[in-house]
Amino acid sequence: DSYVEPDIGKSKRTKEQLEEIQKRLDEFKLSDEILQQIMDILEAEMEKGLNRGTHSEADVKMLPTYVCQLPTGKESNDILALDLGGSNFRVLFIRLRENEEPVIVNKVFIVSESIMKGTGEKLFSHIANCLYLFMKNHNLDMTRTYPLGFTFSFPCRQLGLSNSILLRWTKGFLCSDVVGEDIVATLQKYIDARGDIKVKVCVLINDTVGTVMSTAYYDRKTALGLILGTGTNACYIENVDRIGILESYVDPDQKQMLVNTEWGAFGENGSIDFIRSRYDEEIDKTSINVGKQIFEKMVSGMYLGELVRLMILELIDRELIFVDEMKKNAYRHALFTKGSFYTKYLNEIETDSNSKFTRTKRILKELAGIENPSHEDCAVVKCICMAVTKRAAKLTAAGLAVILKRMNRAECTIAVDGSLFRYHPRMQAVVEKTLTNLVSSLNKFKIVLSTDGSGKGAAVVAAVAVENDPIFK
Ligand code: GLC
Repeated sequence: DSYVEPDIGKSKRTKEQLEEIQKRLDEFKLSDEILQQIMDILEAEMEKGLNRGTHSEADVKMLPTYVCQLPTGKESNDILALDLGGSNFRVLFIRLRENEEPVIVNKVFIVSESIMKGTGEKLFSHIANCLYLFMKNHNLDMTRTYPLGFTFSFPCRQLGLSNSILLRWTKGFLCSDVVGEDIVATLQKYIDARGDIKVKVCVLINDTVGTVMSTAYYDRKTALGLILGTGTNACYIENVDRIGILESYVDPDQKQMLVNTEWGAFGENGSIDFIRSRYDEEIDKTSINVGKQIFEKMVSGMYLGELVRLMILELIDRELIFVDEMKKNAYRHALFTKGSFYTKYLNEIETDSNSKFTRTKRILKELAGIENPSHEDCAVVKCICMAVTKRAAKLTAAGLAVILKRMNRAECTIAVDGSLFRYHPRMQAVVEKTLTNLVSSLNKFKIVLSTDGSGKGAAVVAAVAVENDPIFK
């Protein structure tokens, strides 16, 4: 019975109490009609983002990436890459050779909370230092200049592959003095200032772009990339003549370009308030980016655990759950601390057995000191987790459906990455099922988990960008 919603109707609660709980769970339900409505609004927002006249007031920015071609598999070079923006910061070295499987070495470095929220100077000198340590430890040739591709997973206004202005921080980052700066030039400055490594930052890409590129390396039908991890975002192949906001010259032979939607910002103008619950509002109010990234706050890994926690607290407040336990008053409830309910708990609880609830009990004990929660209360906790996940999956599918319809391809491979999608036991199945219902059978799609988007993806884009540059031969 692992992935089945337990029956909360079997509990010892009164009919009124059950209704109260059900009412709250229902707030997370999304009917097909509502999803359709959301799709219509998102589609209009995307149009607004792409058009010059409306772009400035658009929530969904639809940012040009200047990546106009999928990889051919012929790319060849030795390339460094950086990956910043998810749960980890990584430095990578990628050896690309025509007709050979890329060789990738990588190392994860810690970016502490104090760096994530400190000064830009601290962040960039840390990055440059990690790069130096990596090159030294991997015995890279310090006399040679290496090209570097930077996977920087934040919204940037790009004027070219190596010209990229940070529009805002998202997720847990909030470094001072970086918004409005050119990220490539800034990183280059900090690398050069060290004087001990020779690296040229050649391209900056979003993680969604990396995901598409790394999957397209093997599958040329790839035209859409999704990230569902700490944050959420998608990019897709758009016709250049529909991108009204292009500012820089694009070779007229290039008819298509990847567009980074930055759909995480969807809803900032209130357009999806009708599906937001009080828990969503609470998450926003207590976040470091109030009023921003509204869709992301309903969908991505950084927030789902917190949504569950807030709903449990609401039920505690109304004496609908853990009633006896709370009376004992003997607990130091971590449950009352913001951020204590990790999104990974959802994976565990949702796959727990409905007859024993072994994992759910362990988590509740660890987290809240609740020694022996009743079967009924465990059932409610599992239902909350499932409701929160399902809503996230459906909203993601609605977003993908808008893009699939827009591209209107007979076949499309969707490249996906991100911890939430990768590790949640049911996320892919619910996204797939919902998406199948939302798009026509004429737009066939296939979902593929991408591997090493930020490594391979950044490397192939960098390799093409420096192809004719003699210093990298
Ligand atoms: C946030 C960022 C976006 C990124 C996404 C997934 O939404 O703004 O650029 O792609 O997270 O990492």
